[in-house]
Amino acid sequence: MTSIPHETPGEPNPLNALTLDLLRRRTSMKWRTHPSDVLPLWVAEMDVPLAEPVVRAVTRALTLGDTGYPSGTAYARALAEFAAKRWGWDGLAVERTAIVPDVMLGVVEMLKLVTAPGDAVVVNPPVYPPFFAFVAHMDRRIAEAPLGADGRLDLDVLEQAYRRAVAGGGRAAHLLCSPHNPTGTVHTARELAAVAALADRYGVRVVADEIHAPLAAPDGDFVPYLAVPGAQNGLSLMSASKGWNLAGLKAALAIAGPDAAADLARMPEEVGHGPSHVGVLAHTAALSEGTAWLDALLAGLDDNRRLLTALLAEHLPGVGYRPGGATYLAWLDCRALGLGDDPAAVFLERGRVALSPGPDFGTGGAGHVRLNLATSPEILTEGVRRMARAAVR
Ligand SMILES: Cc1ncc(COP(=O)(O)O)c(C=O)c1O
Repeated sequence: MTSIPHETPGEPNPLNALTLDLLRRRTSMKWRTHPSDVLPLWVAEMDVPLAEPVVRAVTRALTLGDTGYPSGTAYARALAEFAAKRWGWDGLAVERTAIVPDVMLGVVEMLKLVTAPGDAVVVNPPVYPPFFAFVAHMDRRIAEAPLGADGRLDLDVLEQAYRRAVAGGGRAAHLLCSPHNPTGTVHTARELAAVAALADRYGVRVVADEIHAPLAAPDGDFVPYLAVPGAQNGLSLMSASKGWNLAGLKAALAIAGPDAAADLARMPEEVGHGPSHVGVLAHTAALSEGTAWLDALLAGLDDNRRLLTALLAEHLPGVGYRPGGATYLAWLDCRALGLGDDPAAVFLERGRVALSPGPDFGTGGAGHVRLNLATSPEILTEGVRRMARAAVR
């Protein structure tokens, strides 16, 4: 199997820039959780160098000693401009935004605004595992509305979950992952409008985690939740963190629809003390000057999705994979391999390749693994070879 050649005019594919030796010098979670004989294809960090505009912004801040507290609305203005150009959405009003330390802490603060302890939060498993942990940590209860067999929102199941969520008379929220982690599903405008209509009927408040939105194809697939009809009281969280690999440079934006402005205004002022000023500068530079880099990355990710499909067909034909339209995550159905509920444990132990365990993603996760394909074609190829070796023993 040879790697598929990459064709991007302009910027080079950032996924091809770093060797394994260089990556192993990193000290972040992806590279330090497992011993050095393990190939890490799990947590959502990308094997890329930073986009030049981000490097310039951070270097300028460090050179100036500009490392104080964040100020102003540049991040929100950059995102509003990006959203207008990229998704044709001009409804992001800077005055209805707030900076938050990161997306998950933003989710927590927004859920606090619209629910009380003991209230239900609807999620769509299999879904990003911290959704369960953060909701439990804030004393809300999870109400599951699993995705359908096609990996898409199931509106009947969602309606039942909404009905159960509000049955006791409490308030309820729906923590929507859009695009969806781990499947990469990009919800359509129609699906999102149906969610908004249901939420309105049952009095459920939608909080949309849209952190993966920049990783959707630039041709108009992704629709911001707040852009669909009926979503005026929705809340959203966006960030440059996933698109430009900035998780260590903490910052994100909370965004309110027109009818949720009063809710967002109740967010305590001290929440805005959490984001890093250097993080805000980095995210702002990414959104306002990092589009060419992002497009080169997206082309590389497309190549990797095709490569992964070919590698699985060659080495692990029993594994089910439906390439998603966004994210750099691949959700692999390994049930036919007979490796039990947690194939990631087998791949790690026998194959020395680290993937995210499916059961952590809730209902529908057993027998699955999540693979992070934001890496070089060589590392991806070696990862699948290791999986294949582990599966045959
Ligand atoms: C859906 C989703 N939300 C939130 C996060 C974490 O974002 P942050 O580091 O900004 O909290 C991730 C990270 O992978 C994610 O996939």
